Amino acid sequence: MPFKLPLPETPRLKTDRLVLRPLRLEDIPAVQRHFPHWAMVRHLVAKVPWPYPEDGAEINVRDCLEKRTRGEQFYWALTLNDGEDELIGRIDLRPDADVGAMRGFWLAQEYWGRGLMTEAADAVNAYAFEVLDWPFIDVTTNSANRASQRIKEKQGFTLVHVGVGDYIEGVREKAFWRLTQETWRSRRGGAKSL
Ligand SMILES: CC(C)(COP(=O)(O)OP(=O)(O)OC[C@H]1O[C@@H](n2cnc3c(N)ncnc32)[C@H](O)[C@@H]1OP(=O)(O)O)[C@@H](O)C(=O)NCCC(=O)NCCS
Repeated sequence: MPFKLPLPETPRLKTDRLVLRPLRLEDIPAVQRHFPHWAMVRHLVAKVPWPYPEDGAEINVRDCLEKRTRGEQFYWALTLNDGEDELIGRIDLRPDADVGAMRGFWLAQEYWGRGLMTEAADAVNAYAFEVLDWPFIDVTTNSANRASQRIKEKQGFTLVHVGVGDYIEGVREKAFWRLTQETWRSRRGGAKSL
């Protein structure tokens, strides 16, 4: 397997507008507040519980932190760098996930459309390729999820194939994407990003 486990500690990553810091138990109320909304979850895989239970965030964050303790996955809380360290979204990186689910993200709805998730995902890609030396990142999207798909296109992911996926909103086309380290490096023209 090209991914060395256990993973190192989740690093703090900074972008122009964001600080990505390790997810923690104190983030549970913010996750429960921002995440369970139809516009947020409709395109997500059906294994996300819906309707979302009152303890949904607690169950999820505790589960994530256990995987983190075992060094299996990275979980970042997105916070505004001029804010108060409050979680406004999440991005995860997981080498051992199901095929094509190595990166996942969501952002509180009030912050959509400002390029923030592209910024966060750029920082996480740079960490994966430059520091961890991962050979590729494989992801999937519900093809109805235009915003998520657009982020992959902007970052140079290549569409590998399409299949069918079971999503909260129903059965939809599922697109499988790959970004290789080589493509990522060639698009940056060799400039250091971390
Ligand atoms: C997907 C998500 C994280 C995007 O966050 P964001 O910060 O708004 O994304 P960005 O602004 O960085 O980029 C979104 C891109 O999609 C485009 N876009 C958004 N909605 C679109 C639509 N309906 N059709 C076409 N393009 C769309 C934006 O214009 C932007 O592209 P541009 O920079 O070329 O203009 C956010 O919508 C979200 O949390 N969705 C719910 C959870 C989710 O779907 N997660 C991904 C699962 S794979």
